Amino acid sequence: MIEFQHVHKTYRVAGREIPALNPTSLTIENGQVFGLIGHSGAGKSTMLRLINRLEEPSGGKIIVDGEDVTAFNASQLRGFRQQVGMIFQHFNLLASKTVADNVALPLTLAGKLSGSEIDKRVTELLARVGLSDHARKYPAQLSGGQKQRVGIARALSTNPKILLCDEATSALDPQTTASVLQLLAEINRELKLTIVLITHEMDVIRRVCDCVAVMDAGQIVEQGSVADVFLHPQHPTTKRFVQE
Ligand SMILES: Nc1ncnc2c1ncn2[C@@H]1O[C@H](COP(=O)(O)OP(=O)(O)OP(=O)(O)O)[C@@H](O)[C@H]1O
Ligand SMILES: [Mg+2]
Repeated sequence: MIEFQHVHKTYRVAGREIPALNPTSLTIENGQVFGLIGHSGAGKSTMLRLINRLEEPSGGKIIVDGEDVTAFNASQLRGFRQQVGMIFQHFNLLASKTVADNVALPLTLAGKLSGSEIDKRVTELLARVGLSDHARKYPAQLSGGQKQRVGIARALSTNPKILLCDEATSALDPQTTASVLQLLAEINRELKLTIVLITHEMDVIRRVCDCVAVMDAGQIVEQGSVADVFLHPQHPTTKRFVQE
């Protein structure tokens, strides 16, 4: 579903070059839950944001579902981004909009469905994430776990093929984390969605991921099935995460 071919990224700030991702090749299969783990600054968010071109690569190619994303023009990119949902550590909900309106927003912006079709879809999505009774609330009236469920419903609204999760559970307590991870696993199974998930915690990887890549200083230092990486960690960074 997602293929990185020698992709690299260097940021330029005030004339200085900041290498964030060394040339990286990677394949993520359709329907996988793929984990990216690494310490702060390792390049995880950069790698994730390259997938939907929130960051432009400095070189290399990114192929998603057979199409070269790096060659898309602005209008192709807009269409493509509707196939890629994203959720964030701090939820990024609009405080002045209700739960239902937050979930409806991508559909309203896409402008393809009528008002009543959007209402119907929002009702379905809120039921899927277990928030049917909260449609008319505002984000400030929800718990952290509930806010992330709104984020998930919003990310699913356009029926994406891929869901990108940047530390989606890092702001949640362990029990809430477990229930959000369970929801992501359900979504992966039932909707056959490919999920790429960033975390600092090996426990998150163990609970939901099929495969994992360990990142360190802008490169993938180890990668494989979760069972293999847990049982036979090779790189010192991986060993430290597994011990934790
Ligand atoms: N927009 C930017 N401009 C300049 N440098 C950036 C930018 N975004 C990230 N970087 C740099 O790129 C490197 C990788 O950052 P990135 O955000 O991908 O790390 P990360 O693994 O997601 O870290 P964290 O776990 O703290 O979120 C870091 O050195 C960071 O300072
Ligand atoms: Mg990050």
